[in-house]
Amino acid sequence: MYKVLIPEKIPHIASELLHNAGFDVIPYKAGKIFPTAFWNKQANLVDGFISLLDNRIDAGVLAKLPRCKVIANYAVGFNNIDVAAASKRGMYVTNTPDVLTDATADIAMALILAVARHIVKGDTFMRQGKFKGWKPDLLLGMQLSGKTLGLVGAGRIGAAVAKRAAAFGMKIMYYNRSRNVQIETSLGAKKVTLAKLMNSADIISLHLPLNKETFHILDGKLLRAMKHSSILINTARGEIVDEAILIKMLKEKAIAGAGFDVYENEPKVNPALLTLPNVVLVPHLGSATDTARNEMAAIAAKNVIAVLKGRKPITPVNTI
Ligand code: GLV
Ligand code: GLV
Repeated sequence: MYKVLIPEKIPHIASELLHNAGFDVIPYKAGKIFPTAFWNKQANLVDGFISLLDNRIDAGVLAKLPRCKVIANYAVGFNNIDVAAASKRGMYVTNTPDVLTDATADIAMALILAVARHIVKGDTFMRQGKFKGWKPDLLLGMQLSGKTLGLVGAGRIGAAVAKRAAAFGMKIMYYNRSRNVQIETSLGAKKVTLAKLMNSADIISLHLPLNKETFHILDGKLLRAMKHSSILINTARGEIVDEAILIKMLKEKAIAGAGFDVYENEPKVNPALLTLPNVVLVPHLGSATDTARNEMAAIAAKNVIAVLKGRKPITPVNTI
């Protein structure tokens, strides 16, 4: 009977589908997947593996999974997996696109609004009993209508953020390798260079996958080009931005603020971030809705089932 390694805390639908397909399920605790005992006793029995975005699956790990035919990452991003090494071993790698697009775009929009309108600062102010009445100059923020949103990356999630921002009356510009004709025609979005976007957008939101080309793509030079009044939002991957330089700029008030869902050394957070008043921080919640997580679990399981039954996976990220 095929054995599939799956994380304990993902929705039940995954193990249900796998059981119905006649497979055995080996549950593992998030973050505790690689104790020595596991490698010695169980790893060589694993046929399929539903992985989490913080499981670092490099060539060494893959070598210890001799029977495994599919790594189904429970995420749209797959920067945690050495995909080339998997392909070489004839292993499929799959992800969970589409089903988390709306949830992630909502978190980006929530961070945009929270930073622009001082929502967290206002909440803290209330809880500290500081509200002594309406004031003409209390916590004035940035109005979104008429401002420009700059999307760094205009794939599915970037486009979904564009749609939301357009409904708030924002103009849209984007940087992407290829044109996104759909957001150009339906929302009037303009494709620009990254340099132009960085020095002209009012709010910059990141929606690129992390890979060798995008690691620190927002370097000191591009970050320093941002307007003093601008806001940066990262719901993609921490390593896309040179976080140390961004923190320095936030300290100097070189930009107005930032919203983070992802961090360069996740789950560690640079302590300086926790002391800055002009940032809003959430703990990698992009896809954290019941709807998205249920669909992610179902897709991950269906990918494993397809491969182990000798079919092509539904959402592969490699070809073998
Ligand atoms: C979440 O960050 C994902 O890649 O799905
Ligand atoms: C991100 O933009 C995605 O591909 O869903």
